[in-house]
Amino acid sequence: MSPACLPRHPAVAYLFPVRLITMPRFDSFDQRNYETVPAREGYAQWAETYEQTIKHDMDVWLLEELQSVHWNAVRRCADLGCGTGRSAAWLASRGVPVIDGVDATPEMLNRARERQVFSSLHLADVCATGLPAATYDLVMTCLVDEHLAELSPLYAEAARISEDGAAYVLVGFHPFFIMATGMPTHFKAGHGEPVAIETHVHLLSDHVTAALAAGWRLAELREQVIDDRWVKTKHSWAAYRDVPISFACVWRR
Ligand SMILES: C[S@@+](CC[C@H](N)C(=O)[O-])C[C@H]1O[C@@H](n2cnc3c(N)ncnc32)[C@H](O)[C@@H]1O
Repeated sequence: MSPACLPRHPAVAYLFPVRLITMPRFDSFDQRNYETVPAREGYAQWAETYEQTIKHDMDVWLLEELQSVHWNAVRRCADLGCGTGRSAAWLASRGVPVIDGVDATPEMLNRARERQVFSSLHLADVCATGLPAATYDLVMTCLVDEHLAELSPLYAEAARISEDGAAYVLVGFHPFFIMATGMPTHFKAGHGEPVAIETHVHLLSDHVTAALAAGWRLAELREQVIDDRWVKTKHSWAAYRDVPISFACVWRR
């Protein structure tokens, strides 16, 4: 809603019973102040080294914990924000036979193509994929949502392409971690300095609101905290012990 549309007088507000949602802004937490670029620009630069630097602990442990998805019964999956095909390779290893990938960054898609786990790859926005309606029994979005200013279009697009009964698995960078550390998604650029990719803070309630509005219901929610396994591989993160770093939701239609 644009500011011009907002009710200005309490009496007028009474006539417009709209709940105004104020999302936390990443700027309120930023402790790094890195140069920041839009997602497409950032991932174009990061594509070459992405696989060496992304931490599988963000998502793989969570995916392995999920009880409500029978991966080897999936017939057709859409991987929205597929990147280099890292998550798709995991899905394929669990028996998912057909995976269509969508990503907005050509350089990430080039890497994904080399991986040969996708049935098709599409250069498109996760919120307007161009994929056929009512086609997939699994939709997956892994480590993408923090780059979206709004969640509703993502959940609506996932619902549009899903069959009845489909699962939508969304793994995200946990808002608590972003808030506690003031750390955006970032990578080391060619010039050697860290560069941040535009990061948005979405509370878990924002996910619930957007997903319910798109017709999803929550089947499972898991959270990964910084535990001994994490600290063993990244000693400096002992300071963040017990802070949740990522989460996985399974939504059903
Ligand atoms: C952290 S990577 C995750 C890739 C993969 N899912 C994984 O887990 O390794 C984020 C990906 O989201 C893509 N992305 C970000 N915003 C997007 C958008 N609006 N539409 C499509 N892709 C987007 C980026 O290009 C990048 O490949």
